Amino acid sequence: MSTLSGSIPPTLHVSNHPAILHKLAILRDERTEPKKFREVVRELSWLLGYEALADARIRPLDVATPMETTPCHELADRIGLIPILRAGLGMVDAMLDLMPTAQVWHLGLFRDERTLQPVEYYNRLPNSATVDLCLILDPMLATGGSAIAAIDVLKRWGAVRIKLVNLIAAPEGVAAVAAAHPEVEIYAAALDRQLNEKGYILPGLGDAGDRQFGTGRNG
Ligand code: PRP
Ligand code: URA
Repeated sequence: MSTLSGSIPPTLHVSNHPAILHKLAILRDERTEPKKFREVVRELSWLLGYEALADARIRPLDVATPMETTPCHELADRIGLIPILRAGLGMVDAMLDLMPTAQVWHLGLFRDERTLQPVEYYNRLPNSATVDLCLILDPMLATGGSAIAAIDVLKRWGAVRIKLVNLIAAPEGVAAVAAAHPEVEIYAAALDRQLNEKGYILPGLGDAGDRQFGTGRNG
């Protein structure tokens, strides 16, 4: 499959932080067992979430310390976390550690193995948006089909500010998201080389859902 032609969109943020690079190596390693894999998914999610929330809106408030009252800030944006089932589930706890008041709205999508098209099988979003900033959580951005479908759902819901948090992105997926939803920012730990003929990311890490939950075969 083709690689990203042209320039990398400005909406893609890939971190080169040493802690992220170190953890990525563990995540990619085929010898990493599900328990450790889940731990590293959590740790990477926290680091990426920290970056993705850097422009969340705040409002001032006064806080009385034991010494005196001082101006502080609190989060003004209502944050929505939208994990894409299954693999996005492993990213939720870390993001809740970061933003304990976030709402979590689950969205179930799987990729049809033959067509690579996303199939929606679970959606418990209420009728209209209840948050200001949505973070879609999914470890893998491959063809981009699932991410685009999730963004479509959130836009129909009324969401305006939407970001994607992925652990590994493929150039094909980044390009597809940038074409369909050019304003959506993507935060990833790595931009990999390409997809294989089955739509798996190379070098990637195999199947993120299977590796977290100990199911199936990888790649
Ligand atoms: C994986 C992954 C993404 C999707 C990415 O999910 O977690 O949701 O594939 O592929 P795409 O960018 O080509 O759409 P999968 O369909 O394997 O479901 P799972 O999480 O239940 O394993
Ligand atoms: N989904 C995964 O879990 N891994 C890939 O490489 C592509 C899609």
